Amino acid sequence: MEDARIRMNEQLGHAVALRRLLYGHLVSRAVCTAAELRLPELLAGGPLSVGELARRCGAAPEPLGRVLRLLEQYGLFSRCPEGYGRTALGAALAEDAPGSARPTAMILGAEFGDSFNALTSTVRHGRAAFDELHGLPLFDYLAKNSEAAGALHASQSSGIALAAADLLDVVETEPGQTIVDVGGGHGSLLEAFLTARTGLSGILYDLPEVTLEAADRLAGLGERCATIGGDFFVSVPEGDLHLLRYVLHDWDEHDALAILRSCRAAMRPGGRLLVVEHVLDLPEADAEHNRVAALFDVYMMLVTTGGRERTLPEFEALLAAADLRLARVVPLPTTGMSLLEAVSA
Ligand SMILES: C[S@@+](CC[C@H](N)C(=O)[O-])C[C@H]1O[C@@H](n2cnc3c(N)ncnc32)[C@H](O)[C@@H]1O
Repeated sequence: MEDARIRMNEQLGHAVALRRLLYGHLVSRAVCTAAELRLPELLAGGPLSVGELARRCGAAPEPLGRVLRLLEQYGLFSRCPEGYGRTALGAALAEDAPGSARPTAMILGAEFGDSFNALTSTVRHGRAAFDELHGLPLFDYLAKNSEAAGALHASQSSGIALAAADLLDVVETEPGQTIVDVGGGHGSLLEAFLTARTGLSGILYDLPEVTLEAADRLAGLGERCATIGGDFFVSVPEGDLHLLRYVLHDWDEHDALAILRSCRAAMRPGGRLLVVEHVLDLPEADAEHNRVAALFDVYMMLVTTGGRERTLPEFEALLAAADLRLARVVPLPTTGMSLLEAVSA
């Protein structure tokens, strides 16, 4: 009898734990709302009463207070005699925070997050929820929606702010080399490399409408940096180091191979290809690394049909098909991504 009760209590404990996982969705949504209302920015000068905060962000005080109470429980805001203040965690959501999480909250609070609710449909039919909801594949949709494109690139740039230092620690370059950031978005990773390594020159390569947006950011680097608009399925500019960060995971095997072949054809003798992606089931990686990789794998499945993270053997096979050999793999601690360095086979 006693054993039966222990077993039942264990089962009930699991049922409660699962509910907590399920309600995590609501926590994510509340963080997006805090970002949209710019609560961290409004609290930068110190705590405010809920009423004053509501007045400044154009919200109704009572519901706002309930969201603040929830996010207090998750460590973003703290209650004090004046009302609410922001914590160090909450401050990381402010626009001016280093590597701010705000741009990511803004895309997850809009088109990207909307696709999360259609996961079952993607699992049943294999088509990305994003395509189904918006009627177009991701990059076609972004070409037509400049606001969404701007939000995605802002999110990518804020992620690069987290990744650049790790990469600069492990990537060696020589003065006079040319680094080509393929699908480099708004150019923040290239900017970080060229700022830290003044002997390098660089080329930002992306779709024409994207490179136009990047030109201002890179203008300060003068002649050391060019921006070229084009299609990586057709060709890629020549260079000594080709960077592909968060690019291959947008595409299925066929398309990823085409991108790798374009890079391979543009590599100078002795050139290197630097792929920066999550790696699934990476042996010897910590649990968090593999958890983030699995999370992004499902995220990619939702936003791009064919998009996916890959295991090390899958990367090796893809690289080999493009006449490339994996020379080393370096886990990057800050983001849980990995650097895969490839050379001519
Ligand atoms: C997920 S973003 C990654 C951006 C950046 N590398 C980063 O690490 O944040 C993928 C990039 O691929 C670019 N892209 C998509 N299709 C492309 C194509 N056919 N040719 C060149 N770039 C393309 C997109 O515009 C976008 O900037």
